[in-house]
Amino acid sequence: MSSSVRQQQPAEAVASGRISTLVQSIYRSLRRRIGKNGPKNASKNLPKETPTDSPNILSRYSSRKSSKNSSRNSSKSSLKLPSLIDESTARSRYWVEEPPINNHPDAVALIRHYRADIEDTDRMIRLLKEIRLKAWKIKHYPCVGQWLFFKFGMTEHAIYPEVIERLQQGQRILDMGCFMGFDGRKLIADGAPSEGITNMDLEDRWFPLSFELFKDEDTFKGEFFGDCDINDPELFEEGSIHRHRYDMIYVGYFIHLFPPSHQPKIIANLAQLLKPDTGSMIFGNTSGTAKENGYLMKADFGPPTTNEKGETVRPDFMFHSTKTIVDLMARGVKGDGEWDFTGEQSPIDLDLSPTKAYAQHFKDVELVNMNFCMRRTSPSSSLAH
Ligand SMILES: C[S@@+](CC[C@H](N)C(=O)[O-])C[C@H]1O[C@@H](n2cnc3c(N)ncnc32)[C@H](O)[C@@H]1O
Repeated sequence: MSSSVRQQQPAEAVASGRISTLVQSIYRSLRRRIGKNGPKNASKNLPKETPTDSPNILSRYSSRKSSKNSSRNSSKSSLKLPSLIDESTARSRYWVEEPPINNHPDAVALIRHYRADIEDTDRMIRLLKEIRLKAWKIKHYPCVGQWLFFKFGMTEHAIYPEVIERLQQGQRILDMGCFMGFDGRKLIADGAPSEGITNMDLEDRWFPLSFELFKDEDTFKGEFFGDCDINDPELFEEGSIHRHRYDMIYVGYFIHLFPPSHQPKIIANLAQLLKPDTGSMIFGNTSGTAKENGYLMKADFGPPTTNEKGETVRPDFMFHSTKTIVDLMARGVKGDGEWDFTGEQSPIDLDLSPTKAYAQHFKDVELVNMNFCMRRTSPSSSLAH
């Protein structure tokens, strides 16, 4: 059973920003280099620390940046996020030792699809644990500790078949905060061409791990962009190769990483990566609650942070309801054309072991999955065509 909320936003004319011809030609020439000769050629201009040992792993995202001033720490994020909690605390809260393969037949089928060489289940489990441990050492995210990446949030959307169809027609999707790119691999296994898939993340160390698991370096023709921070204006402002590039943007379990007061800005930034055309859309999943007005809690699972008054506080964490998620999307693109917004909740199966651990920690929340989608119903009013 699921419930949904839908809302349309009236058009408000705003005229600003136009992709310059210069940027378009730089972009076209960069695409040519990446596309025809493979990204290894493009990687000549990448910062040294970029893991370029696998094809398709790219790092720079702005045609303005030179390799000299582009560095791993160059993200000019206006938002200072608290760092993660220490490993032993994270492990005590989020660690689930065995991969819950029996609860996730889709994930197992996906791995078998790519790794026909691993017939033996014990071998597959060993490999999964090895790669998951490497990912955990990079960042001890709850989703890594609890194997939540086995859950393909994209397939939970009713529009999933439409997404595949649009990719088959040559459209492009951006998976922002893609982690190891499981959702993109699932799209390909379900019939989408890999050419139209762009995976993007702040952390580029996930990507070599994903090639270690899926072994698809030779067949994956899409892109991985690392070192990309959704808070960084250079990612989405004029001058970036990603500005207004994507027909569809997927954000799986991503929005809740940011404080609720900052989330409309995240939506606004994502919208700048989207094509300004009717039908382009942003969709995703986030932490949800069955409570009507959402559930705001102090994130006692995160480290303390400093507020505007200089006080040490726990960061806020928002579980969205269908109503608050629609409100968030509408606030994010207020003034930028007409949109259709949908928020849809579906129950979480508390019998699945990782989510049970999660649910115990958030027992007052009335946890649900929150799926959302925002689709342009008229071209962006911020661009003259
Ligand atoms: C909870 S994981 C979600 C992974 C995947 N989308 C899924 O549905 O399982 C969040 C991902 O967002 C990435 N991330 C965190 N902050 C980011 C930022 N500011 N910009 C881009 N990616 C970010 C993390 O590295 C991580 O891979």
